[in-house]
Amino acid sequence: MKKDYRFFRVNLKEVKPYDPHELPHKIKLNANENPYGLPQTIQEEILRRAQNIDFSRYPNSLAQRLSEAISHSLGLSADHIIIGNGSDELIDYLVRTFSEEGKKVISTAPCFAMYKIYSQINGSSFVGVPLNVKDFSLNEEEILEEAKKKDASLIFIAYPNAPTGNYFAAEKIIKIIEESNCMVVVDEAYYEFGGKTFLPLISRYDNLAILRTFSKAYSLAGLRVGYLLSNPEIITEVRKVKSPFNVNTFSQLAAEVIMENQETLKTNVHRIIQERERLVVKMAEISPFKVYPSYTNFILLEIGDKDNTDLVFHRLLEKGILVQVTSDPTFSHSRYFLRISIGKREENDILLQELENITHDLVNKS
Ligand SMILES: Cc1ncc(COP(=O)(O)O)c(C=O)c1O
Repeated sequence: MKKDYRFFRVNLKEVKPYDPHELPHKIKLNANENPYGLPQTIQEEILRRAQNIDFSRYPNSLAQRLSEAISHSLGLSADHIIIGNGSDELIDYLVRTFSEEGKKVISTAPCFAMYKIYSQINGSSFVGVPLNVKDFSLNEEEILEEAKKKDASLIFIAYPNAPTGNYFAAEKIIKIIEESNCMVVVDEAYYEFGGKTFLPLISRYDNLAILRTFSKAYSLAGLRVGYLLSNPEIITEVRKVKSPFNVNTFSQLAAEVIMENQETLKTNVHRIIQERERLVVKMAEISPFKVYPSYTNFILLEIGDKDNTDLVFHRLLEKGILVQVTSDPTFSHSRYFLRISIGKREENDILLQELENITHDLVNKS
């Protein structure tokens, strides 16, 4: 007999537990992680300093040393920053701070999945405004139309966008900030791979916040550190919903060491950018699939319909290469893509070879 769980929250009905798509693989290109990991010297320094951690004490609640290191390196005071257990946690905080039951959170379609998931969990409804089907550009007028409705609360715009990898026109985002009357979060998770930022504008607008992470360029996805930058009034508001000890001491320490060694890590960021550019050119040469330019550490490859996309995904997986299938019915019912993280050169060569083999087989079959 089906039980009547009357005590379950209604708005969790449509939510499924998060599926990280973990499948056996040799080459992991599905989560936009940094393939190089932390340089040995940095890892050793983290472990050396970790010996002095007092594990019996709670972490510093505001991650004070890390907050100061990041904010000072950006020319800001520490009241402009809040550190999160990954930027995922900060997305949750933002929804809880600026939206509420019955209100709408707005983003693009497609967009980073967690905007919708945290909106649903928190009882807000989510609206994804489709990007232009031709070039993934922003439909700012449609976003503004949604934003001007009474129940609109919060807008997320990823810059560059995930999973499309492109930058939206800055003027369009500025128009949204100026005219929406909503809190606008510009998610710069991939900032270091493209270099453009809205950070200088946080002092000009009282409804703008910038989200960044240590998970991508800084090779720290496993320790979960992200940060939000905004004016002090916004930061104080977000602190109201923050768990008191949200970032553990070890992660705070690791991110501090990384901040002291940013220059060393830039070498790997440059390598990833070079590999990205090489892959885009090579993929365009060898495969019939459409490859899009990217300002991130991943590439979007348009395969076509669902069946073909599944086929390519499984053929790659058979060879141990794990990538991510992505589609968004709000954007298109018929367009399916593979989102492929940039790996090390030798991993990318194996990927290219496999794509070439698959293409060869598909052409011969047709
Ligand atoms: C656009 C965007 N924002 C935020 C995140 C979350 O990053 P994290 O929670 O690891 O800081 C990701 C991760 O893939 C992302 O693609």
